[in-house]
Amino acid sequence: MRKLIFAVALAASLIAGPLTAAPIVIKFSHVVAENTPKGQMANKFKDLIAERLGDKVVVEVYPNSQLFGDNKVLQAMLLGDVQMAAPSLSKFESFTRKLQLYDLPFLFKDMEAVERFQNSAAGQELLNSLKKKGLVGLGYIHNGLKQLSSSQPIRVPADASGLKFRIMTSDVLAAQFEAVKATPLKKPFSEVFTLLQTRAIDGQENTWSNIYSKKFFEVQPYITESNHGLLDYMVVTSTEFWMDLPDALRPEVKKALDDAIIFGNQVAAQKAIDDRQRIADSGRSKIATLSPEERAQWVEVMKPVWQQFEHEIGKELIDAAYNANNM
Ligand code: SIN
Repeated sequence: MRKLIFAVALAASLIAGPLTAAPIVIKFSHVVAENTPKGQMANKFKDLIAERLGDKVVVEVYPNSQLFGDNKVLQAMLLGDVQMAAPSLSKFESFTRKLQLYDLPFLFKDMEAVERFQNSAAGQELLNSLKKKGLVGLGYIHNGLKQLSSSQPIRVPADASGLKFRIMTSDVLAAQFEAVKATPLKKPFSEVFTLLQTRAIDGQENTWSNIYSKKFFEVQPYITESNHGLLDYMVVTSTEFWMDLPDALRPEVKKALDDAIIFGNQVAAQKAIDDRQRIADSGRSKIATLSPEERAQWVEVMKPVWQQFEHEIGKELIDAAYNANNM
């Protein structure tokens, strides 16, 4: 009998061929739609990995908070339930205070300045700011500058006074809205549309691509083109997962990610133009462009927030980021 079992097992192994290792699975979780800079970047990463690493590594992308919302994803990553994510830089507050830098209102005049700072030594060093918490920053990806959407017209800070705005989980963003005497409410991205639709809140701040892809413009009749803050992302993984990758594979996975980020950043730049136009063409939301005097009022009221958080972020870092505007 034993001989028979051995013969069957031998025959089966000959048919199946030599044992092959199962591919390493990278679950990539995010909260936005697929047709956004981050969504496109994640899909590109998946495609590049499939193309270059064949059956050694497989990327599975879970968009639209299908797997985890941003409030859960980093804990899930530390538990090994997800391997990659790219939360907004505003959502790392409970892991590090340094990244609050990116939430300071009117810090960067345009995306070129953001790019210059992120590529500088100080910007790259911030990718290591999560190390102590067991996470590795693998790179930044852009979305763009934020606009204010609302249920009533807003041109100057006084117009926002008394209104309720949804914000990401960031004390800097809370302080920014408190500076104009508005009420900030920290809520997950997945709840924003319903909060706006039911008028539980009066407005929110986001980029053109998020306002368009999540249809916020359909339930917010006014958008102020304020460009007052940044919405960018950090692609992160757990140190444990990253260091457990075979040495031969790690640089290849990183290269595929870097290439996907370059692609995602091109998408971001184009979408900031195209999605703004789509919203304008829809006629559902009226876009207000600020005069230099109106804009100056926002800067004057919101800029004191910088000092409020200087002791946590560091003056040197704030100066380094601000100086990227003038290079
Ligand atoms: C995202 O772009 O990932 C979400 C931004 C938000 O929560 O407003």
